[in-house]
Amino acid sequence: MLKRSVNEVALAGRRVLMRADFNVPVQHGVVGDQTRITASLPTIRLILAAGAKLVLTSHLGRPKEGKPDAESSLRPIAAILSQHLGFEVGMIADPRTDAALAAVEALPAGRALLVENVRFFAGESTNDAALGAAYARLADVFVNDAFGSSHRAHASVVGAAAHIPAVAGLLVEKELAAFDAVLGTAKRPFVAILGGAKVSDKIAVIDNLMERVDALIIGGGMAYTFLAAKGIDVGASLLEKDRVVFARSLLDKAAARGMKIYLPTDHVIADRFAADAQRKIVSGAIPHGWMALDIGPESAAEFSAVIRAAGTVLWNGPMGVFEMAPFAAGTQAVARAAAECSGVTVVGGGDSAAAVNHFGLSERMTHVSTGGGASLELLEGRGLPGVAALQDRG
Ligand code: 3PG
Repeated sequence: MLKRSVNEVALAGRRVLMRADFNVPVQHGVVGDQTRITASLPTIRLILAAGAKLVLTSHLGRPKEGKPDAESSLRPIAAILSQHLGFEVGMIADPRTDAALAAVEALPAGRALLVENVRFFAGESTNDAALGAAYARLADVFVNDAFGSSHRAHASVVGAAAHIPAVAGLLVEKELAAFDAVLGTAKRPFVAILGGAKVSDKIAVIDNLMERVDALIIGGGMAYTFLAAKGIDVGASLLEKDRVVFARSLLDKAAARGMKIYLPTDHVIADRFAADAQRKIVSGAIPHGWMALDIGPESAAEFSAVIRAAGTVLWNGPMGVFEMAPFAAGTQAVARAAAECSGVTVVGGGDSAAAVNHFGLSERMTHVSTGGGASLELLEGRGLPGVAALQDRG
């Protein structure tokens, strides 16, 4: 169901409450990767240019709910927003107070305020009705542009939407359209690349994608449970013993359907989990005491050829421990192949988005999601409560 867009509501002279996802890495008050902040700027600018007063909300990190702590303050985010917008974005310390309401009343049109970390207020994660109503009291229109938080049925995401007209922001629209393009009628061949540490995190995604893809490439730590299911010795590599049966049944199901599953055939192995570990490249079985930390060059070449020829590529999860340079080549090869693919390329958020950023290839993908958990839930075929709460397009 299509949702009403921020483009479709009157904004001039109105108070707009926008939930964003400014959950970015912050250390000692310094913001690292700003991607999520810059991704929300188009909607912010649209609202301000329309002559509205804007009240922004977001969470940051996972502070103990209801217990403000300085490390999780949104002050560094307000400073970054101020730089981008060219005026000072002030803070609202507590959205439940009359002082907050007065600050919004006093705000000139075309200007914005940022509410402190929504997780500082008790009742956020339980979607407390009074907290949702307190947010809505500050505005006439609610805009959800927090794609990355839309899988959270929290007060600032879902609760606030219950009281005033609630519409989708531009980022939410863009993200939903990108996932629709792969989960709807994808251009074939449709190749999904799954990686990351654990099979258990991706079972529901695999189940949902099995019906849709032409080929599945599996790398990263999760590949070793599949290799074990094929009877291959995986040494000290990551292995989820309790998922071996699932992995075997998936391989059998794929074989019965004629669907190709690509697993690594060679590996970069290490004698311990460290960047300066002793390492070598092996094919087939992994020797006792050694662990695979990346796919090998032969696997990278095979995967890359399949990816380059795809009509649609969906990528979620790195091929190895790309954060350590000696184990980054496999993930980099896959990122490059996706960048060179002329089809539609969608990168799920979280680690794979961090990987394409790391290799400077984000601009060459059709879409790199800003949502980790949210994109995973879409890939599992689930709806997002933060989207369901918005008005349907009339
Ligand atoms: C994310 O980083 O995936 C989102 O910002 C959601 O954060 P959360 O898992 O703490 O709700």
